[in-house]
Amino acid sequence: MLFQLSFNLQLSYMASNLKFAKELITFLGKSVIALLETMIFTFIPRPRKNVAGEIVLITGAGRGLGRLLALRFAHLGSVLVLWDINKEGNEETCRMAREAGATRVYAYTCDCSQKEEIYRVAEQVKKEVGDVSILINNAGVVTGSDFLNCPDDLMEKSLDVNFKAHLWTYKCFLPAMIANDHGHLVCISSSAGLVGVNKLAGKRNVIFCTHKLFYNLSYSALNNQH
Ligand SMILES: NC(=O)c1ccc[n+]([C@@H]2O[C@H](COP(=O)([O-])OP(=O)(O)OC[C@H]3O[C@@H](n4cnc5c(N)ncnc54)[C@H](O)[C@@H]3O)[C@@H](O)[C@H]2O)c1
Repeated sequence: MLFQLSFNLQLSYMASNLKFAKELITFLGKSVIALLETMIFTFIPRPRKNVAGEIVLITGAGRGLGRLLALRFAHLGSVLVLWDINKEGNEETCRMAREAGATRVYAYTCDCSQKEEIYRVAEQVKKEVGDVSILINNAGVVTGSDFLNCPDDLMEKSLDVNFKAHLWTYKCFLPAMIANDHGHLVCISSSAGLVGVNKLAGKRNVIFCTHKLFYNLSYSALNNQH
């Protein structure tokens, strides 16, 4: 009996060692491939995707990163759909994008923490502009408080804008991307979501949500279950 137990323990020890060795080899192999890829693409630049004419929707376009993204896409000849809760800031971005060369820019006031409002404005965009082919979920709010000191409504707002809005916008625009077999979903997250930074927990949800969606879609595609 004792011999059997020690034999089983040894077997499970060997199995966990083998598993560890396999994971280590996979990790090292992938690291070498990534390193080689980086070295090669440092000398031979990757061909860049042409986004001229693509319909690009950017949430939180009224200032900051959203505005900078809008100006970049304006230079690249994309059709811009700008969403923000702040009408004034959004219209300012719209004006700047036109000055930067965009010929078609549409600004919509939308509170991304409100599901019904997202659904309503998305329908308006589909009618007035067309099928969005690049969706950039950029709008974000930061609570900036310790967990225990953070007011409930601020926590809820953070989840609504930083996380749930991604789900609702995917539901609005993903079907056309699948039907057209063309499109990109981009989510602006933060390294704070990877390493865990005090007062910035919400961003982890965004990374989790995107990974889940990616696996979900890959699985559906493999099984032709769009
Ligand atoms: N700035 C940074 O250092 C940094 C670092 C990591 C990640 N990020 C992320 O990048 C994104 C943009 O950051 P930023 O610094 O440009 O932010 P910002 O605060 O300057 O701009 C955010 C924009 O989102 C809009 N917005 C907020 N709530 C909204 C709502 N309910 N509906 C619609 N629009 C709303 C705001 O009006 C504003 O125009 C955010 O998701 C942020 O978490 C920023």
